[in-house]
Order: sequence, then structure tokens, then C-alpha cells
Amino acid sequence: MIKISNVSKSYTSGLTVVKAINNVSLDIEMGQFISIAGPSGSGKSTLLNLIGCIDSVDSGNIEIEKVDVSSLDEKQRTTFRRNHLGFIFQTYNLIPVLTAYENVSFALSLISDDQNQIKEQSYQILKEVGLENLESRFPNQLSGGEQQRVAIARALVKNPKIILADEPTANLDSKTGKGILELMKKINQKYKTTFIFSTHDNMVMEQAERLVMLHDGMVVSDEKN
Ligand SMILES: Nc1ncnc2c1ncn2[C@@H]1O[C@H](COP(=O)(O)OP(=O)(O)OP(=O)(O)O)[C@@H](O)[C@H]1O
Ligand SMILES: [Mg+2]
Repeated sequence: MIKISNVSKSYTSGLTVVKAINNVSLDIEMGQFISIAGPSGSGKSTLLNLIGCIDSVDSGNIEIEKVDVSSLDEKQRTTFRRNHLGFIFQTYNLIPVLTAYENVSFALSLISDDQNQIKEQSYQILKEVGLENLESRFPNQLSGGEQQRVAIARALVKNPKIILADEPTANLDSKTGKGILELMKKINQKYKTTFIFSTHDNMVMEQAERLVMLHDGMVVSDEKN
């Protein structure tokens, strides 16, 4: 269970303070396929970054499976993130000088020394996301949808219980985006991986099991689909 209790986060730029997340409380069961929606600037990325231990809360608590991640220091957050969470970004964020295989295996090599396991698991997961035979391509030799599949493989290879995805389909045409969403749903069902993703896209919202709407950093609706 992910338990978000009265979380707030502000950013200061110049003289203005923006309350990016304003007293948000949410309970998210493990295994859910949940979408965070809302207009630009409503706090979606901020909320994902807080849950994902990329950023720290100003006040309130975030517990992930009984670990109070909001009380961890930066180093501890990095370790927690590495071991327990997967991230997928709108612009894929692959390492351009590494092949598809190397992008995936590198992520696993940060937490494992077992070379055979790294190799086996990386190839297996690339196959799972439909990239068999494209393992040795560099990101600039892959389509947007294929790059996003590499990013999903990279997030998945550590077998995390939670994957956070910030607008994973926003840079893709609707057909490719649909394929990415179907892949995420397949993984959610097969491995019971919890998916929390932000989106602007109605098609993506409709596929979610639960839809949380943000506005000005606050939850304005929370519905099961
Ligand atoms: N690092 C930062 N420094 C200053 N302000 C920030 C920072 N990050 C976010 N903000 C502000 O916090 C608010 C929430 O931003 P956030 O990126 O979470 O919105 P979002 O819902 O993800 O928007 P979008 O749909 O455009 O991605 C915005 O007003 C934004 O300008
Ligand atoms: Mg955003």
C-alpha cells in the first residue's frame, strides 16, 4: 500500500511561491493501474516525483509498503528508488550512447553483480516488451514507440512492485500510444506491478482502473472506472 497523507510541496521561483501540491491525501493499493490527470501545472509531475523519491515533501508523509520514504535523506531515497521503483518518462530518457540492451542491463547492473542473471533478465524483458532483434540498436535508430518500450523494459528489469510513468504516451501518435498502454496493462496483470501514470490523454484515462484528478495541487475527484 502507498499511503500519502497531507502532503504539500511548494517551489519558489524568484519572489513567487507556487504550491505545486497542496495537502494531498491518497491511499493506493498495490497492483492498481491508476491515472493522475489534470491541466498543465496542476501538480501531476510533482506528485509522481514525490512518490518516486526523486523529490522530498515539505510536509506530510508518504509511506510505501510501510516505509516512510518522506523521512529518508537524499542518499537513502536514491537507494530506495533504485531497489523498489521503476520510472518511465514522456521523452523516454534513454542513454543515447548505449544500445537498447545496454540501457536495460545497465539499470540492473546498479543493483546486481550476477553477470549471467543481468544478461538473461535483460534479454528476457526486451523480448517481453516486443523488442526481440532490436537489442543492439541505439536509441536514435528506434522509433518513439520502440524507445518507450526500451524505457519500459529498463523500468521493469529490476522487477519493481511500483512503476511511475509521467505522461508515457504524450510523445506518441494515438495508435503507438495505445500499444504502449496495452503493454503496461499486460505487465500490470501478469506481474501485478502497480502502475501510477500521469496523462492528458482521454484514451489513457479511460483505461485506468482509478482516475485521480488534480487541480492547483489539490485532488478534485477520485473515481473508480
Ligand atoms: N522545479 C520547479 N521550480 C519552480 N516551480 C516548479 C518546479 N516544478 C514545478 N513547478 C511548478 O509547480 C506547479 C506544478 O508543476 P507540475 O510540473 O507538477 O505540473 P504538471 O501537472 O505535471 O504539468 P504538465 O501537465 O504541464 O506536465 C507548476 O505551477 C510549476 O510551474
Ligand atoms: Mg508534468
